[in-house]
Amino acid sequence: MKISFSLLILLITKILTQTTDEVIYSDEEGFERDIQPTPPPPPVPQVLPNESENNSSDPSANNVEPSRFLPIRQIYGEALIRGAPGVRGLIYFINSWNGVGIHGIVCGLRPGNHGFHIHHYGLTANGGCDAAGPHFTLYRWNHAGPTDKYRHAGDLGNLKVEQNGIAFINQFNGQVTLMAANNTILGRSIVIHEWPDDLGLGRKESNITGNVGKPIACGLIGLRRDKPYLPINCPPPNL
Ligand SMILES: *[C@@H]1O[C@H](CO)[C@@H](O)[C@H](O)[C@H]1NC(C)=O
Ligand SMILES: *[C@@H]1O[C@H](CO)[C@@H](O)[C@H](O)[C@H]1NC(C)=O
Ligand SMILES: *[C@@H]1O[C@H](CO)[C@@H](O)[C@H](O)[C@H]1NC(C)=O
Ligand SMILES: *[C@@H]1O[C@H](CO)[C@@H](O)[C@H](O)[C@H]1NC(C)=O
Ligand SMILES: *[C@@H]1O[C@H](CO)[C@@H](O)[C@H](O)[C@H]1NC(C)=O
Repeated sequence: MKISFSLLILLITKILTQTTDEVIYSDEEGFERDIQPTPPPPPVPQVLPNESENNSSDPSANNVEPSRFLPIRQIYGEALIRGAPGVRGLIYFINSWNGVGIHGIVCGLRPGNHGFHIHHYGLTANGGCDAAGPHFTLYRWNHAGPTDKYRHAGDLGNLKVEQNGIAFINQFNGQVTLMAANNTILGRSIVIHEWPDDLGLGRKESNITGNVGKPIACGLIGLRRDKPYLPINCPPPNL
């Protein structure tokens, strides 16, 4: 009798612990909840990158040796974008076996194309977006477009900003990872520039910077706890 009572207590404790864990680590919490705690948000259709859509038939888009035989732990990154007055955004990063999906929204930009890249360094107290240094790359390849085989790992092409000043980001980079590796982008930064990126096809600094001009907004790429939703709204100005 005494033994079965103890067993019952043990069982109840176990169930309670599991329930608590589920609450703490729930995958269902995301962007919507973060910015609008009340009332509980309506379920947002989860738009996560579809690996088959991005299983690029063009091998040049995936020119880093994939670790096919290792189980991939899901890793999520996030960058809060800030810079020029009124510019704000949230960009999420999702690891997969052959690269990183990049998904986000940036608001308050001048309509048109703006070059954007992952730069080598994280952001430090002084220097603003300039502290990010050059485009992130492991190899001495020239600056180019995101689908070129030979490019900087951090070359992301152009952010297309609509007339309302909003740009959505939905792309895949096969040269970087969120894992601990020499091509990791955790701890680096993502920078948005004032002018369009000529993707290495122009003159002067084209093969280094893409002639994008000054940085206007940037964010540090950090590790995120849980699976993000694809953002559909601009983050609040005070974020
Ligand atoms: C992923 O994309 C493929 C092809 O576009 C489609 O057949 C499949 O249903 C999609 N999977 C999901 C989970 O959306
Ligand atoms: C992705 O591509 C590889 C090699 O091209 C293929 O073996 C694999 O089945 C593809 N996966 C999906 C989900 O399409
Ligand atoms: C998949 O990656 C390619 C570049 O390799 C990009 O053009 C395309 O938009 C990506 N598709 C999705 C659904 O992210
Ligand atoms: C990066 O790491 C990979 C895998 O460990 C290695 O093969 C490659 O040579 C390294 N590249 C550089 C530039 O360090
Ligand atoms: C970049 O282009 C300039 C000319 O615009 C050229 O002088 C320079 O050698 C090029 N750099 C590389 C690494 O190809």
